[in-house]
Amino acid sequence: MACKRLLLVIGVVAVAGAVASGAPPPQPARIQADVVVTGFVPCNNGTSMRTGSAPGFPGALVELQCTGDGAASALAANATTDGKGWFRMAVNTTVAPSSVASSCSLVVETPLVACDATLPAAGTLRSGLRRLVSIVFFPRGFSYVATSADDSPAA
Ligand SMILES: *[C@@H]1O[C@H](CO)[C@@H](O)[C@H](O)[C@H]1NC(C)=O
Ligand SMILES: *[C@@H]1O[C@H](CO)[C@@H](O)[C@H](O)[C@H]1NC(C)=O
Ligand SMILES: *[C@@H]1O[C@H](CO)[C@@H](O)[C@H](O)[C@H]1NC(C)=O
Repeated sequence: MACKRLLLVIGVVAVAGAVASGAPPPQPARIQADVVVTGFVPCNNGTSMRTGSAPGFPGALVELQCTGDGAASALAANATTDGKGWFRMAVNTTVAPSSVASSCSLVVETPLVACDATLPAAGTLRSGLRRLVSIVFFPRGFSYVATSADDSPAA
């Protein structure tokens, strides 16, 4: 008899638990931003590389760098790629999305040797931006640039 009552109690607890877990799961936090840049960084030193052209570059520091006379030149953001080479950055800005693609580019600051010991320790991966929809931008494709004036010390 006592055993039956115990089972009943367990049953009630189980039903209560099922009801509680039936509540909608918390939604992932939505990104509130004016500009979102997302994409894939390949671990390779080719040119115009697209997703799938190489393994991902995990833990790479990706910088959004903007130039020009307008307000866009002040735009800057950083992101670090995840374990598969994907990154996402979100920036609040007053810069019009239409001028972001023309003024900004992506530069991977982490040297390629960090993801593959046979790849160069100098030089950087760079990519222009392509506007996907409204405020979302993708890299056009990363290319390896062996040396660049702004990265190499003057003397
Ligand atoms: C952008 O601004 C909104 C509203 O002020 C804020 O909730 C959000 O966290 C900001 N996003 C970023 C990436 O700073
Ligand atoms: C991005 O990271 C670089 C190198 O750590 C730093 O110099 C720069 O200030 C950062 N930019 C932003 C917008 O956080
Ligand atoms: C890529 O790196 C390899 C190994 O360092 C080198 O032999 C090759 O010339 C590089 N390719 C380009 C396009 O720089």
